[in-house]
Amino acid sequence: MFAAPTALSRRMWLKGAGALGCADLFPKLASATETEIFSEGLKDHAARKGLIYGSAVEGLHLRTNLAYQETVLRECGWIVPTYEMKWGVTGQVRGNSNYARPDFIVDFALRHGLKVRGHTAIWYLNIPKWLGEALHEPEKPDVFDTHIQELVTHYHNRIREWDVVNEAIDFKDGQPHGLRNSIFLQTLGPDYIARAYRVAREADPAAILVYNDFGVEYPGARQEARRRAMLEIVQNLRRENLIDGVGLQCHVNAGQRFDAAVFRKFLKELADLGVSILISEFDVNDTQLGPDIETRDQAVATYAKDFLDVALDEQAVRGVISWGISDKYTWLNEQPFARKDGAPSRALPFDEAMRRKPLWNALASAFDHAPQRDHSDPIIRPVK
Ligand code: G3I
Repeated sequence: MFAAPTALSRRMWLKGAGALGCADLFPKLASATETEIFSEGLKDHAARKGLIYGSAVEGLHLRTNLAYQETVLRECGWIVPTYEMKWGVTGQVRGNSNYARPDFIVDFALRHGLKVRGHTAIWYLNIPKWLGEALHEPEKPDVFDTHIQELVTHYHNRIREWDVVNEAIDFKDGQPHGLRNSIFLQTLGPDYIARAYRVAREADPAAILVYNDFGVEYPGARQEARRRAMLEIVQNLRRENLIDGVGLQCHVNAGQRFDAAVFRKFLKELADLGVSILISEFDVNDTQLGPDIETRDQAVATYAKDFLDVALDEQAVRGVISWGISDKYTWLNEQPFARKDGAPSRALPFDEAMRRKPLWNALASAFDHAPQRDHSDPIIRPVK
C-alpha cells in the first residue's frame, strides 16, 4: 500500500499522516524515541570506516514483533540465524532436508538488502537425533559431506560467508590438539575439520569460509591453550587454502579482567596467517555486576568500548555481529548463564522495548573511532 519510507521521508510522512488524521492507517511505529527512529543505525557508523555491523536473529521474532523488525532493519547490515540454520533444525528427517525456517530469514534479509552469515554447518550441538547412529554405520555413509554440500549449495549466491565448523576446541575432553571429543571426531577422526572445509569450498568456491569459536579473549593458561589450538586449526586449513576468516564469538563478561596486550597479540597472530577476523557473537554478560540498572548499563558500555577499541584497532577485524540486538531475546537469560538475582540480562544495545542503551553509544563510538579499513587489503575486502 505504501512504500516503506526512508528516514527523511518518514518525518514528512508522519507529519502528513498526523495532519490528515490518518496516522491510524499505518502500523504503530516502534516504541523507540523519535531520535532513534530518524537517526543513523550502527551499520552506518560501521560502514563509514569500512566495517560491518549486524545481529543474530530468530524468524519468530522478525515475524511477530514489528518494533524488533524495524530495529534490525535500521541497525543491521548483516544478520545471522541464532539456531534455525543448524543441522538439528534442517535435518530432522534423514535424507530430507527442510530449509523452510532458515529460508524465511534469508529471504527477509535479501528482500531488505541485508547480507546473511551461514551459521553453522558443523557443530557438536543441535544435531539430528539420527546422526549418531548414522555416523557409526560400518559403510560410513556420506551424511556428513552431503549435509554440508546440500546446505552450501542451497544458499549459493544468497549466503556468501559460512561458519563451516563451530567450536571444535575443548581441552576438557583430553584429546590431542585440544579438540572437542564430538561425534565427528569420534567417527571421522581429526580430519573431519579439514574435510568439512573441503566440501564447503567445492560446493561454493566463491564463499568466505570461517572457523568460529569462543574463549580466546582473556588472559590465563586455559584461554592461552585455546588460542594456540585455534591458531593450529587455522594454520592447517590455510595450508590447503580452505579458510578465509575466523569468527571470535566474544561473549565477554563485564567485570572480568581484560588484558589488551594479550588480545591484541592474538589478533595479530591470526592476521599474520592471512585470515580476516569477525567479532561474531558479541554481547556483554552483566552477571558479575550489581542490580542497579543505570550503573550496570554504564559499566557494560564502558567495558564494551574498551574491548572494541582494542579489537577494531586490528585492520584484519572486519566488524561486529552482536548475538541479538535486544535484551528481550538474549540467550543469556537461560540457565546456567542467567543472573543469580533473577534480574533480566542487559547485554545488548537495545532494551526489551527496543530503546537504545548506553551500549548502543559505546558501539557507535567504537566504530567512529576505529581506523579506516583499507579495502585494498585482500584479507578484509568486503563480501560482494
Ligand atoms: O523457539 C523454540 C520454541 O518454539 C520451542 O518451544 C522450544 C523448545 O523446543 O525451542 C525454541 O527454540 C530454541 C531456541 O534456542 C529459542 O531461541 C531451541 O530449541 C534452542 O536449541 C535454541 O538454542 C540456541 C542455541 O545456540 C542452540 O542452537 C540459542 O538460541 C542460540 O543463541 C545459541 O547460539 C550459540 C551459537 O550457535 C554458538 N555460540 C554460542 C551461542 C550461545 O549458546
